[in-house]
Amino acid sequence: MSKKIDELNEKIALSKLGGGQARIDSQHKKGKLTARERIGIFMDEGTFEEIGMFVTHRSTEFGMEREKYLGDGVITGFGKVNGRLVYVFAQDFTVFGGSLSESHAEKICRIMDLAMQNGAPVVGLNDSGGARIQEGVVSLGGYADIFYRNTRASGVIPQISAVMGPCAGGAVYSPAITDFILMVENTSYMFVTGPNVVKTVTHEEVTSEELGGASTHSSKSGVAHFSCANGVECLTYIKQLLSYMPQNCEEDAPSLPYEAGDEKRKGLNNIVPDSANQPYDMREVITEVVDADSFLEVHKNYAENILVGFARLGGRSIGIVANQPAFLAGVLDIKSSGKAARFVRFCDAFNIPLLVFEDVPGFLPGTDQEWNGIISNGAKLLYAFCEATVPRITVITRKAYGGAYDVMNSKHIGADMNYAWPSAEIAVMGAKGAAEIIFKKEITEAKDPAQKLKEKEQEYIEHFANPYRAAERGYVDEVILPEDTRIKLIKAFEMLKNKVDTLPRKKHGNIPL
Ligand code: HXC
Repeated sequence: MSKKIDELNEKIALSKLGGGQARIDSQHKKGKLTARERIGIFMDEGTFEEIGMFVTHRSTEFGMEREKYLGDGVITGFGKVNGRLVYVFAQDFTVFGGSLSESHAEKICRIMDLAMQNGAPVVGLNDSGGARIQEGVVSLGGYADIFYRNTRASGVIPQISAVMGPCAGGAVYSPAITDFILMVENTSYMFVTGPNVVKTVTHEEVTSEELGGASTHSSKSGVAHFSCANGVECLTYIKQLLSYMPQNCEEDAPSLPYEAGDEKRKGLNNIVPDSANQPYDMREVITEVVDADSFLEVHKNYAENILVGFARLGGRSIGIVANQPAFLAGVLDIKSSGKAARFVRFCDAFNIPLLVFEDVPGFLPGTDQEWNGIISNGAKLLYAFCEATVPRITVITRKAYGGAYDVMNSKHIGADMNYAWPSAEIAVMGAKGAAEIIFKKEITEAKDPAQKLKEKEQEYIEHFANPYRAAERGYVDEVILPEDTRIKLIKAFEMLKNKVDTLPRKKHGNIPL
């Protein structure tokens, strides 16, 4: 027996060595952690259970039968993160560059199937040269098996992808279907075709980092939700993200214990400037209102005119969508609409209540926006809010103009509660623009048109640049002191915690993609 135990221990040690010490050293030299080190940092200590440690590939082409590594380039298993069950796969770059073979794909699929059957999140730590070139179409089939499962699992269990090395060609589409993508600066990239192909086809000269690095995808394309300084930061962000999510779509979002204290936040009274056109940072409002240090911003560097992220309020997990007056005056455009719509849909799919802070001058005008589809893109956000059945509350801090008033979680499209600060202006448009249109004749015929415009602007402000018209109609439930926002929201979300709302029976809706 002891010989057999030795044999097993040798095999385990061999599997743990992946592609060998030289390749592990080379991985470290590139500033990257190995797959095993990543799992060690990610999972609660001592909780990781590996599945398929001795799996090898079945390829016999190109002398592959002579080169086999136990585990075949991916470590798969389950364990605990923050004490809760999570399934994980980590591609091992030291084995054939983490490339995806038939067996490698089967291991990932098994983890995904288990996650679906048992209702727990799947986290993928990607670091791969793509399809195992020696295996050809079998590898492509393996990718498709994963894409299929990613899609079937969407909205059922949370799926998170960390891109911690190369991720190219069709391989990018698995992370793209998952809920959140995190990338590591300077050591990861994602693109459909690399710099060489780009140069041949479009004659553009571009580096891998410029084409598809963490900074590019977290700021320009929006493909990545987080850009992380290194592997450890990336894994820490994933743990934090998971802490706001339920295990699956049948469960409620987790809550932390909360003891009521002094909930007044006097600082909120002084954030919105007197002038409607002066910027301020909506992050200050959010951080004052939510539980201390609980705001985790998602997509921070992309479409900065809207803020989205998770937070806790009275211990409860919530999703926040907020116009950002400090960037492009908080206007809604193509990118910000898509960013917010996807976030709203994630929260709704996973029973995370939504809180909206609104200060929006409208949709961005111009040929660029119109020709690139602000109509169908803006409709994504409208659709996402209309469809959401989770508890939804809006706080209007200043402007709620035009169509954007409707879109930003108005009561007409299903918000449960709508609060306004005394600084709120709920109107079809800004006072100056409105006066220029409806008093055009009077202004042009006046002795002093500029003075007349000012008078008419003031008249419009007195009529509409306030929250009271909307409150008279019940479109705003209450005009509140900014300092009371936190307590009002805690009470309202508590009141809404058992909300039941269902969509009409259908196969699925047809969001304007
Ligand atoms: C088999 C691969 C491999 C692959 C890398 N390796 N990619 N083996 N299939 N796809 C092996 C290398 O032979 C090498 O083996 C080891 O992994 C490390 O690779 P290096 O090139 O030494 O590393 P590095 O310099 O860091 O470059 C990494 C890389 C490069 C940029 C990923 O290896 C590369 O360009 N690989 C090919 C990428 C590619 O074209 N893949 C197919 C994409 S198409 P040794 O034995 O020396 O350690 C695709 C389609 C998916 O994926 C479709 C889904 C629908």
